[in-house]
Amino acid sequence: MERPSIRSYSLRGNRMTRAQSLAINAHWDQYAIALAQPLNLNQNFPDKQKVILEIGSGMGEATAQIAQATPDTGYVAVEMHEPGLAALLMLIVEKELTNVKFIREDAIYLLSHFIADSSLDGIHLLFPDPWPKNRQHKRRIVQSEFVQMVCEKLKPGAFIHIATDWQPYADWIKVRFDANSSFTGGITPRPDWRVLSKFEGQGLRKGHQVTDFRYVKL
Ligand SMILES: C[S@@+](CC[C@H](N)C(=O)[O-])C[C@H]1O[C@@H](n2cnc3c(N)ncnc32)[C@H](O)[C@@H]1O
Repeated sequence: MERPSIRSYSLRGNRMTRAQSLAINAHWDQYAIALAQPLNLNQNFPDKQKVILEIGSGMGEATAQIAQATPDTGYVAVEMHEPGLAALLMLIVEKELTNVKFIREDAIYLLSHFIADSSLDGIHLLFPDPWPKNRQHKRRIVQSEFVQMVCEKLKPGAFIHIATDWQPYADWIKVRFDANSSFTGGITPRPDWRVLSKFEGQGLRKGHQVTDFRYVKL
């Protein structure tokens, strides 16, 4: 299967702390979802009405807090950075969360080859890497093709929520989603459920303004 030609994540170190390695050895298989075709994430949480795919969960602090606050919803985090997933795994175990699982994969590859069409209840894309330089723009995860793929994977009436603290990326996101006639929505007030993550805190300290988007598939 073809891998994406563009990497929207940066290759950071994969060094683990001892606690992270122990958590991986003890619990990884319990919470990691194995890839299968087609993958319907709702089957991983038969007792939940809705399952949200979180793209790029980072160190998992926001994921764990959101999941803890909304136990009736299942969350699947997809992230490439293994120490980040190990940190999320530790939070899952510490908080005894039963509504979070994860997939270590490139979200673009996951969506394009595994996730069943019209199967997702929602997507969270919180603080995607902004790739600020002109020559890096092609690495932004939000591209017209990504918007179309998201459209194909969401159920009718399902949503994608995006937050960014990089104004030029906010403008870029708006142009691409507004151009796809299968979506309605746009800029939305910050929702109560969106807790402050490390990345957002860093942005706010630099004086960045945060923009939230909610687009619903028609
Ligand atoms: C700026 S961080 C934000 C993390 C987190 N959402 C937060 O708000 O703290 C972006 C994350 O997205 C991940 N990421 C970027 N592109 C990805 C992709 N194609 N598939 C999976 N993860 C990706 C990166 O590894 C990184 O951890």
